[in-house]
Amino acid sequence: MSMIEIKNLTRRFGSITAVDNMSFTVDRGEVLGFLGPNGAGKSTTMKMITGFLAPSSGSITVDGFDVTRDPMAVKRQIGYLPEGAPLWPDMTAAGFLEFIAGIRGLSGAEATTRIADVVDKTQIASVLTQPLDTPVERLQAAGRIGAGTAA
Ligand SMILES: Nc1ncnc2c1ncn2[C@@H]1O[C@H](COP(=O)(O)OP(=O)(O)OP(=O)(O)O)[C@@H](O)[C@H]1O
Ligand SMILES: [Mg+2]
Repeated sequence: MSMIEIKNLTRRFGSITAVDNMSFTVDRGEVLGFLGPNGAGKSTTMKMITGFLAPSSGSITVDGFDVTRDPMAVKRQIGYLPEGAPLWPDMTAAGFLEFIAGIRGLSGAEATTRIADVVDKTQIASVLTQPLDTPVERLQAAGRIGAGTAA
C-alpha cells in the first residue's frame, strides 16, 4: 500500500476542469516535488488530499484512510507547511512546538523527547526562546520556517 494513492481524481468548478482524471501514488519515505504551470491544478489537488475540498469524482487515500469517508484520520497523518507559514507572532518557537505537540495528542516525556528530536533535526535550538516574529530578518525566517517544519 502506498502512503498516498490518487485514482482518477477530477475536480470541476462550473465549466472549468481544474484537475482532470489524475492518478498517482507516493510511497512511504518518498519525497515528491509537485510542479506545474500556474493554474495547472496543484493547489486544488493539495486541498483535496488534505480534505479541504471535495473531489468531483475519483478517490484519495492517505495511509489507507479514505479522505472522503474518514477526513479526520487523514488530517491526523498530515503536516502541511504553506508558503506563508502562518504562526502566532507573540509565541516563542518552543511554545509553538509545545502547543502543536498538545494538539497532536503528545504529552509528558513523550512530548519532550519528540520536541527535542525535531528541534535537533531542524536545527532551531538557538531560536527556541525567541518570539516567532523576532524582528531580525534572518532569525525570523530561520525560526519561522524551522518551527513550522518541526511542527
Ligand atoms: N474556487 C475556485 N473557483 C473557481 N475556479 C477555481 C477555484 N480554484 C481554482 N480554480 C481554477 O482551477 C484551475 C486550477 O487552479 P489551481 O489554483 O489549483 O492551480 P495551481 O496549479 O495551484 O496554480 P498556481 O501555480 O498559480 O498556484 C485554475 O483555472 C483556477 O482558476
Ligand atoms: Mg497554487
